Amino acid sequence: MAVTINTLRERKQNNETFSVLTAYDATFAQRVSEAGVDVILIGDSLGMVLQGHDSTLPVSMNDMCYHTRAVANGNKGALIMADMPFMSYGSTDAALKNAAKLMRAGAQMVKLEGTDWMEDTIKALSDRGVPVCAHLGLTPQFVNKFGGYKVQGRGDAQAEAMVKHARLLEAAGADMILLECVPSELGKRITEAVSAPVIGIGAGPDTDGQVLVLHDMLGVTPGRRPRFVKNFMEEAGSVQGALEAYVAAVRERRFPSEEHTFKA
Ligand code: KIV
Ligand code: NA
Repeated sequence: MAVTINTLRERKQNNETFSVLTAYDATFAQRVSEAGVDVILIGDSLGMVLQGHDSTLPVSMNDMCYHTRAVANGNKGALIMADMPFMSYGSTDAALKNAAKLMRAGAQMVKLEGTDWMEDTIKALSDRGVPVCAHLGLTPQFVNKFGGYKVQGRGDAQAEAMVKHARLLEAAGADMILLECVPSELGKRITEAVSAPVIGIGAGPDTDGQVLVLHDMLGVTPGRRPRFVKNFMEEAGSVQGALEAYVAAVRERRFPSEEHTFKA
């Protein structure tokens, strides 16, 4: 049966996890969904892993729609979430227009990076039938404001603010929260503070779901491997085996382990 936001809410209520992976084309979408991954994210990480840029900022709406259509064509029952690229939701009007494009391309939920300033935009999207995931913590579209890819939410003031923002955006209509590179303690705190399912990447073992970039977990991304990534190809030896090992490790809460997490 196809995964919906109700499936993920039920998992959270039953204290069961769910798994998320990025995919950008039909073939991998089919492989990933058939391996039992619950949510496919068409991430704007495609700017880096497919296009070779050093940030996600150059990714366009046309790029996102092209890859969302391809994923939708191959998908076998996973929930399809698509990233809204840099500045495509700079105003609520722009967000409505651009989210409609992604939904028509096959997305069932859109993801936006930001904090309290997204409140009205998320409410407008949600009120009009567009489910939203609010991405907090290390939001890569803000790399130039952060001065690099750095762990977020360290220290009481930052942690407090992030809990507040998660609550506020849920109240505005966000159906999911995604936390990237925050201390495990804060990942747990926010997961308990909201009733929407929380997805983590480098956010510790206690979030409701886990996400990785496909190329990272298959060990094909060049360069230094970030702390929160595990290469599932090393033990599995085949793509299908690696995907299935990831799903099982998330389900049984064997991933992430201590070595993949950050301290406050
Ligand atoms: O673009 C992406 O792949 C993402 C995940 C890393 C969460 O946003
Ligand atoms: Na992204």
